[in-house]
Amino acid sequence: MSSRTPLIAGNWKMHKTGSQAVEAANQLRILVEATRAVEVMIAPTYTALYQVAQTLKGSNIALGAQDLYWEKQGAFTGEISSEMLADAGCSHVIIGHSERRQFFGETDETVNRKIRAALADNLIPVFCIGESETQREAGETFSVLDKQVRDGLKDLGFGDLTGLVVAYEPVWAIGTGKTATREQAQETHRFIRSLLETLFGKPFAGVVRILYGGSVKPDNVRALMEMPDVDGALVGGASLDPETFSKLVFFND
Ligand code: 13P
Repeated sequence: MSSRTPLIAGNWKMHKTGSQAVEAANQLRILVEATRAVEVMIAPTYTALYQVAQTLKGSNIALGAQDLYWEKQGAFTGEISSEMLADAGCSHVIIGHSERRQFFGETDETVNRKIRAALADNLIPVFCIGESETQREAGETFSVLDKQVRDGLKDLGFGDLTGLVVAYEPVWAIGTGKTATREQAQETHRFIRSLLETLFGKPFAGVVRILYGGSVKPDNVRALMEMPDVDGALVGGASLDPETFSKLVFFND
């Protein structure tokens, strides 16, 4: 296990109405109250953010959004700014999730703009990267990740990136029940950390947290977390039920 404080983050995707999200957040708050050694974050859908923020007040659970738009305000129907997210109570925001890349036209360039907007409003970006199954089979994993990292963090310096979290989510492992082996996760996380060291220096590479995402469940979380470059998990399906998610938070017990 690494010396970095682990972060276990739940991406609720398009699940739960406001009242369902509040109920789950309340249960989770009680379940994970005792944890100090692990940071916890949940990312409900936009319409639930403000209510969930009220529920989480004074708790040890951070609130994140699942996306943002980089402009501050204006005629951008359907979009939401980093300032609005911060105002709703968010401290984190997921950026560049593969579902956004796959279904909603997200590119490395828009990811870069979003990361800058988040950092400008002191939101912690959870920057998602990952290769598809075809890319892995073609031996392109590292070149795909290299491009995603370089372009996503383009023109940013070490000083800008405080707090940034990277989430490695192989697309073939998301929602499929097919988790990367811990060796695959370690090898890839090691590659990402070395690349970050090349780009931003050793001190940054030493502290940046790299989460693994893709079918993380109570029965595989511990093995993954034991790897030296795996600093946490970004969890979809298994984050929806508070009991199950709390087992991930207490992976070490
Ligand atoms: P699953 O845990 O459902 O595979 O989803 C992972 C994910 O996409 C988290 O962002």
